[in-house]
Amino acid sequence: MLQDDFRVAIDIGTTKVCTIITRKRADHRVEVAGISVVPCNGMSKGMVADSAAVTAAIKESTGIAAADARVDIKSVYAGLTGSHVESKNRWANVPRPEGMRAVTDLDLLAAKKAAGAIDLADDRRLLHVIPRSYALDGLHGVRNPLGMHTGELHIESHVITGSISKITELHNAVSDAGLRVSSMVVEPVASADAVLTADEREEGAVLIDVGGGTSDIAVYHDGTVVHTAVIPVGGFQFSNDLSIAFAIDFDSAEQLKIEHGTAAPELAGMQEEITLNPSTMDQPLTITKREIGQVLKERTSELFRMIQLKLEEPHLADIPTDRIVFTGGGAKLDGFLNIAKYIFQRKVRLATPRGLDGMPEGTNDPAYSAAAGIALWGMRNLPAENHVGEQKSVAVSSESDATADTPTGALSVIRGWLPKREQTKEKETAGA
Ligand SMILES: Nc1ncnc2c1ncn2[C@@H]1O[C@H](COP(=O)(O)OP(=O)(O)OP(=O)(O)O)[C@@H](O)[C@H]1O
Ligand SMILES: [Mg+2]
Repeated sequence: MLQDDFRVAIDIGTTKVCTIITRKRADHRVEVAGISVVPCNGMSKGMVADSAAVTAAIKESTGIAAADARVDIKSVYAGLTGSHVESKNRWANVPRPEGMRAVTDLDLLAAKKAAGAIDLADDRRLLHVIPRSYALDGLHGVRNPLGMHTGELHIESHVITGSISKITELHNAVSDAGLRVSSMVVEPVASADAVLTADEREEGAVLIDVGGGTSDIAVYHDGTVVHTAVIPVGGFQFSNDLSIAFAIDFDSAEQLKIEHGTAAPELAGMQEEITLNPSTMDQPLTITKREIGQVLKERTSELFRMIQLKLEEPHLADIPTDRIVFTGGGAKLDGFLNIAKYIFQRKVRLATPRGLDGMPEGTNDPAYSAAAGIALWGMRNLPAENHVGEQKSVAVSSESDATADTPTGALSVIRGWLPKREQTKEKETAGA
């Protein structure tokens, strides 16, 4: 039997590990065959802090997704982020025989090689070399030079590197789970692949994935990435601020943020009060939604200022970036887009992943953009490679369908998150 083209993407985020198994259908559309999300506390600011915890979460998440898709996972694309990820655009001369000649496929291969021939510091590793454009005898901005005549050929590419030790830590956390890393995909690029429209990529847009521990930035123009950056601030810091401001434990602060948080306190009702029962205090604490919003607004504004600084790059001066597309769980904060519109004075929207068919209900969420994007990026840019072992037969008898080894199913997996929330809810009382 001809094996389907399966790819496995894992997003090892600061708050969760998300696995998406995709299958390419005969009509070339890509559909979700299995998905799972499990909480993970082993990462800090996008990097491995507790490798055993990360490996355990990877094992759990890939195990559930594999059961869902009825496959054995052998290898994966792993998402990578953290402020060690750096990028720059560079021009390289493509060596070719002298004289006017048409650009061939071999020249394009040589171009890719020349683009990646970079002197790296001892502790840096090349992650991506993404071709942006070509120059033919000084004529810039050529996107596809194949067949065009030129003497000299130059390539401009977006080059992304990372710290060898940070990459190795993530690599080991995956291989300790018994999985081979077939490739790493840098998360800002992955998220952009999952959320930006063709128009946004073409005309210019800034993608910002606000996660739990990082905010990943990717700027697109003329169809490709022109800038990437990672800021080590995400939703964790928002909750942490609440925890400090109101002297409550982190879990209560997290719950408070999700249930009553807003980044636009001026839009919140003055009178709306919330009574907290912090585990650290004997007495209940009554605060207004406005007070919560005040703390969150400050952190939001601070994050936006950091983003603005990251966008103040000389090579971005002429890039039209009047559209900002937010994704990631952190961007779901109420009022977030209001403040963004005000500070950036640009068009803003909150995006969920697109381009994958069959995302189960409940997973069409900004928090899953990176995972969806890792799968899509791999499909579009990396050589065909099957990530799964033998596909398990689906044609089992109907009675065995109801037995314990029936795949858990994506929805029940996602429900796996919920009990924790229910418990924490009891700790707090939404006040009058
Ligand atoms: N409704 C909500 N309002 C505010 N914040 C939210 C909401 N839902 C989720 N979040 C926040 O989103 C963050 C998690 O987002 P996400 O799942 O995208 O992060 P991650 O991928 O685990 O982390 P990272 O990408 O930084 O490594 C958490 O800080 C969580 O508090
Ligand atoms: Mg993330």
